[in-house]
Amino acid sequence: MYDVYKIRQLFPMLNSNKTMQGKPLVFLDNASTSFKPYCVIDAINSYYKDMTSNSHRGDYDLCYNMDVEVEKSRQAVAKFINGETNECIFTSGTSMSINLIAYGYGLKFLTKDDEVLISEAEHASNVLPWFRISELTGCKINYIPLTKEGKITPENLKKVISKKTKVVSVAHIGNVLGYITPVKELAKIAHDHGAVIAVDGAQSVPHIPTDVKELGIDFLSFSGHKLCGPTGIGVLWGRYDLLSKMDPFLTGGGMNSKFDMCGNVKYLNPPSKFEAGTIHLAGIIGLRAAIEFLNDIGMENIFKHEEMLRDYFIEKTKNLDNLIIYNKYASTGIFTFNVKGVFAQDEATYLNSKGIAVRSGQHCAKILIDFLGEVATVRMSTYLYTTKEDIDALVDALKDGGDILDAYFG
Ligand code: ALA
Repeated sequence: MYDVYKIRQLFPMLNSNKTMQGKPLVFLDNASTSFKPYCVIDAINSYYKDMTSNSHRGDYDLCYNMDVEVEKSRQAVAKFINGETNECIFTSGTSMSINLIAYGYGLKFLTKDDEVLISEAEHASNVLPWFRISELTGCKINYIPLTKEGKITPENLKKVISKKTKVVSVAHIGNVLGYITPVKELAKIAHDHGAVIAVDGAQSVPHIPTDVKELGIDFLSFSGHKLCGPTGIGVLWGRYDLLSKMDPFLTGGGMNSKFDMCGNVKYLNPPSKFEAGTIHLAGIIGLRAAIEFLNDIGMENIFKHEEMLRDYFIEKTKNLDNLIIYNKYASTGIFTFNVKGVFAQDEATYLNSKGIAVRSGQHCAKILIDFLGEVATVRMSTYLYTTKEDIDALVDALKDGGDILDAYFG
């Protein structure tokens, strides 16, 4: 039995009468980042309090223990997404993971005759690294057309994919429209055309069960901080044969086995090859605690809880004529909307005055605004600790609609 109130007690940010603008805090910006449970905070602290040492750099016990901790975390990550341990690279987050694919794979293998397919719905982290690789190699960036609801479909991929396509890179769940992309079907089409598929899992891995083998994809990127883990830690999972062929993105200590004065260098095998410098050890330990925490609750249960919240939001807003929702058929708990006649940032400021945290603007998906035909929108996003009462508070505030300035100053 999913007890959201019990779960909330495990989070200091939800369990200490936190207020914003003197009102009880209603946090609906989980697509941006998530709160951390005590167990994650304790795990991070334990690195600093009890375990501090580097990894792979000493012959004393503390250092050996740290190596063991890092490998335990890698195993936990691998199991969480059903990958292999040596396929999981620790990065600083999704942006770095996608940059690693772009520079490590794209820069090495793409030429001016090649094409990368992304979509108009992608977040900056899955657009700008590819733009940069296009500048450096001359490869073309093209777009899988979205359906009129803003979805990426296998049919639309088939319309644009060709033998020139070498990489397809899409989000598993879009950060603005919240649809689950059918990446398994897309992967099959990409492979039939000789392309690899890279999946941005920033918004999916925290919210739905993920199995890279079942999906049949080639790369998966995600961040720790969106799944109850620390900031500054993330993962790139890649098929081992692809990782083996890739160039490193960063070079330095911990990723080479030897080098000499003539510039000869021998790199270590993946994943070490991609982990130059001292890695984020406290973050790696905190990430494992977050994964264990989510596993205890169960990813299926989290997904069901957020589906319930999605349905509840749709039901509660169905008679709100002042609300324009751009993704009524969202797969999960991300909703993007505007209140008629109110600029998105004004609405978000108004919601802030009620203690409600949402995101407004373009949500780093700056190509999507042309598709939506709006310069800015408001986005609310749920997580495993969101309650129906949070949704009620939001919907009540949205009812103020076009009278927002009166409501604000009145
Ligand atoms: N990608 C994060 C968001 O969508 C920052 O808010």
